[in-house]
Amino acid sequence: MDSIVGEIKNKKELSDIPDDLVISALSEYLRKHKISVPQNKKARKALIKIIRAELRRYAGQYSLSSQSKKEKIIKSGNFEELLKHHSSTKERLNDYNLLNETISSINPKSILDLGCGLNPLAVARKGAIYHAYDIKKDDLDIVSAFFKANNISGDIHNLDIREVKKFPEVDLCLILKVLDILGNNKTELARKFLTEVKAKNFIISFATRTLSGKPMNRPYRRWFENLLNNLSLKYEMIRTSQEIFYILKK
Ligand SMILES: C[S@@+](CC[C@H](N)C(=O)[O-])C[C@H]1O[C@@H](n2cnc3c(N)ncnc32)[C@H](O)[C@@H]1O
Repeated sequence: MDSIVGEIKNKKELSDIPDDLVISALSEYLRKHKISVPQNKKARKALIKIIRAELRRYAGQYSLSSQSKKEKIIKSGNFEELLKHHSSTKERLNDYNLLNETISSINPKSILDLGCGLNPLAVARKGAIYHAYDIKKDDLDIVSAFFKANNISGDIHNLDIREVKKFPEVDLCLILKVLDILGNNKTELARKFLTEVKAKNFIISFATRTLSGKPMNRPYRRWFENLLNNLSLKYEMIRTSQEIFYILKK
């Protein structure tokens, strides 16, 4: 197993994800197709290609430039510039004022950001402890450097949020543009986060455009609204040109 995991990760965009994530994608595929890791070279190569494609859906498509380029920017101390190097933060640049006003109105003393990407660079603040979770170690290293440079007390966790049993208790939990990419059982995962994460407030968002920038046919997530209604959670909604935010108190 170890050797095929290494082979799968032997691509720049997948090199920094946790082994456990690769093992779970691989095991799931093998189980579903009732096969074991093939000895045959051609079949093994085909399997590696399939698992990489699956992993890229989670982790391989948001970075807009190389890590070495980002490291140069970190050295210059211009963290704001880095927001342009992750597709999610880049798309949100014009909307951060609005998001930060919304966060300020909650006045959280602790924030949990699940699948954070580089978002902490735009919303983390002094006086609030920040817990950042993502499968991309390279992004978390940038977040960590940002915390250090700005004296923000925070911690990073290079983990698959689907597998984490217990998150820290917080005033605000952010799950921005993540639920749609967690795989088939997103409703169950959303239910798990909403019921098990001990957060007084949640801000959960979804993209309203595809990665190529086209408007989505169904920007509102009825499945998610139904879930909120089933859980008797009242919410407010804010829609920007790129994203839809569901804001709720528990
Ligand atoms: C569309 S981006 C959103 C990033 C950030 N939340 C934002 O809106 O700026 C999705 C993020 O979720 C992370 N991610 C995907 N699957 C994950 C998982 N199972 N556990 C933790 N993070 C995950 C990706 O690495 C990526 O940074």
